[in-house]
Amino acid sequence: SKPSLLILPGDGIGPEVMTEVRRVIDWLEKEKDISFDVTEDIVGGAAYDAHGTPLHDDTMAKAQEVDAVLLGAVGGPKYDALDFNVKPERGLLRLRKEMDLFANLRPAVCFDALAAASSLKHDVIAGLDIMIVRELTSGVYFGEPRGVFTEGNERVGINTQRYTTSEIQRVARAAFELAKKRNGKLCSMEKANVMESGVLWREEVQKIADAEYPEIETSHMYADAGAMQLVRAPKQFDVIVTDNLFGDLLSDIAAMLTGSLGMLPSASLGLPMANGRPKALYEPVHGSAPDIAGQGLANPIACILSFAMALRYSFDMGEAAALVEGAVEAALADGLRTPDLMTVEGGTKVGTTEMTDAILA
Ligand code: NAI
Ligand code: MG
Repeated sequence: SKPSLLILPGDGIGPEVMTEVRRVIDWLEKEKDISFDVTEDIVGGAAYDAHGTPLHDDTMAKAQEVDAVLLGAVGGPKYDALDFNVKPERGLLRLRKEMDLFANLRPAVCFDALAAASSLKHDVIAGLDIMIVRELTSGVYFGEPRGVFTEGNERVGINTQRYTTSEIQRVARAAFELAKKRNGKLCSMEKANVMESGVLWREEVQKIADAEYPEIETSHMYADAGAMQLVRAPKQFDVIVTDNLFGDLLSDIAAMLTGSLGMLPSASLGLPMANGRPKALYEPVHGSAPDIAGQGLANPIACILSFAMALRYSFDMGEAAALVEGAVEAALADGLRTPDLMTVEGGTKVGTTEMTDAILA
């Protein structure tokens, strides 16, 4: 049967960039005879407007059934004053939580045509292609006890970094599987020098390496040293696996090696479903960009590359994914630039639609 995809455009530029993904899907159906069972639904502010909730139960149920979910972006000034529980972002958080998406994949790829725009030296980032895997459902953001408490005449803010072996093992396995599909190299980052959870993290990752992935070149690095190395010589890495907090910071550092927010895709994966495919949500890293929404200026590349990740990781269509990625690279090499990319010298300023025209061409 056809692979199934649930499209949730969301708010702001979400629907604008998703329209462009639909064009890429149409092209693949027409030119490559690859077809998908696509359904579309609403999420975020759009769902709040229609149903009074940022994620309807029916939409949640659909998301649990499909092979992959592709989400645009949620939120906007119109919804800023809403109650926390019905804010657009809650829709996205509910999806991540109920699908139990514990492995957040953030690639950092530096396209040659954009290398000059980085604040780093050209030879440091040209050809960069790394993947950061961040644990997304545990660690210090969720550990108990947490809260602000009173102790004598002081107040104390508490968060707890907590990881179980199974939480470490499942994200490590996801990262090792990626390393297998990529270049056979994985670096795990924690602070085992000062943190007990880091000691456990290092031990468990190494155990999995020894028992299940002896062919992968596995290394460990303290996360602070890793941050430094990511800026100094990022090409030494291929797959990096790390916890929720360090991954939050390290993936933002890596993102900025490569250029604009409008270029960055992501995937969040959970456990395998009955058909062997992991639960999966793909989304651009950027938000709904209310400052440029409705003007045809949004860069569609982050969302198109998120779809390419779905092709590769959910549908086993690595060739089609490479085709889409290559087309993006070619459009950039031809000098096409949405306004967010105009920091790059030269180039032709284009809007959302023209960028996709060039990618399809
Ligand atoms: P943002 O990512 O929406 O925008 C930050 C800046 O980057 C803006 O100047 C925007 O114009 C630009 N930008 C972002 N994506 C772009 C693209 N594809 N092409 C060209 N320029 C692009 O972040 P911001 O402004 O902090 O948040 C705006 C709204 O989006 C808020 O309501 C926020 O809560 C929500 N948001 C949603 C996310 C999601 O759905 N995953 C993630 C981040 C923010
Ligand atoms: Mg962050």
